[in-house]
Amino acid sequence: MSDAPVIEAENLTRHYQVRRGMFAGSATVRALDGASFSLAQGQTLAVVGESGCGKSTLARLVTLIEKPTSGRLLIDGKDVRSANSAELRELRQAVQIIFQDPYGSLNPRKKVGAILEEPLTINTRMSTAEKRARAEEMMARVGLRPEYYGRYPHMFSGGQRQRIAIARALMLQPRVLVADEPVSALDVSIRAQVLNLLMDLQEEFKLAYLFISHDLSVVRHIADGVMVMYLGRPVEHGPGETIFAQPRHPYTQALLASTPAVDPARRRRRVTLSGELPSPLDPPSGCAFHGRCAFATDLCAKDLPLLRDVDGRQVACHHAEAIAAGQAPVRQAVRA
Ligand SMILES: Nc1ncnc2c1ncn2[C@@H]1O[C@H](COP(=O)(O)OP(=O)(O)OP(=O)(O)O)[C@@H](O)[C@H]1O
Ligand code: SF4
Ligand SMILES: [Mg+2]
Repeated sequence: MSDAPVIEAENLTRHYQVRRGMFAGSATVRALDGASFSLAQGQTLAVVGESGCGKSTLARLVTLIEKPTSGRLLIDGKDVRSANSAELRELRQAVQIIFQDPYGSLNPRKKVGAILEEPLTINTRMSTAEKRARAEEMMARVGLRPEYYGRYPHMFSGGQRQRIAIARALMLQPRVLVADEPVSALDVSIRAQVLNLLMDLQEEFKLAYLFISHDLSVVRHIADGVMVMYLGRPVEHGPGETIFAQPRHPYTQALLASTPAVDPARRRRRVTLSGELPSPLDPPSGCAFHGRCAFATDLCAKDLPLLRDVDGRQVACHHAEAIAAGQAPVRQAVRA
């Protein structure tokens, strides 16, 4: 397996201009505000954070659905900005996406066979027989029975529909699969099956996954790397095992504490996540987490903490070392 990154993102940023109201003029939503990462073949980077932190925005940039406001994106070493239209078509094929709601992304009027063959019809000159053979082969790979070829999406359960969406995403043999909350809408009993399928397919096709989830516990077993986002910015980023074993950003600690402890013996100092997520239209000064953070000081409200190396991962927190050493004062009342 090659270690060359298939995706490299440098300071990827996406801002939206929105109208505040009829007479109030426009404002800027900093949906994504400087995400940098690299993703190698066969690896999974999990992107985690609460609703509105910019996960789907990042997914739309990486899949070339939208252009960044600034920053650089390289796919297979190719800078997307300098790609011509033929190259862009190839890059688009290399990065495919699946969504939380497979029903919404599958055409209800098309049968499974036609859904799977459509990308081949658009992008290749395969014959009808070749396309059918490819579709049936992919159905077998994702665990769909051959007789499903002629059925419509509504005839399937959520888990099976997600299998159809996965099969369709893999028809053009992509290098990267962006999975935007792929199991969040599924019953807990089905989640593990779909996650296992994704892991098997990753190994078989040497796929790179950008796996998006609001729930850290979902990615625990599949993530090689983890990037925790808060209000458009990565706040902790590094190897999954390092971050799960010893989260260093108070926000990561709070996210982990809010998921059920797998091993109570290793339960860490409890940090709870209280208060509302601030609006990205009007982000707090300094560290965007300061209104909810038990360790916030005046410095936090004033200066934006940048990502820096702390204990084998990157953390954007002024007091990461003091918190880890148990030396940071805990605020009595945390404002919402
Ligand atoms: N086209 C747009 N115009 C204006 N604002 C947008 C647009 N798309 C996203 N936003 C805003 O950008 C922020 C990030 O949105 P995004 O959908 O990326 O979050 P998310 O992390 O995927 O959330 P969720 O977990 O709910 O899916 C949100 O505040 C959202 O309202
Ligand atoms: S910089 Fe301050 S407010 Fe932000 S996470 Fe660290 S301690 Fe909390
Ligand atoms: Mg989203």
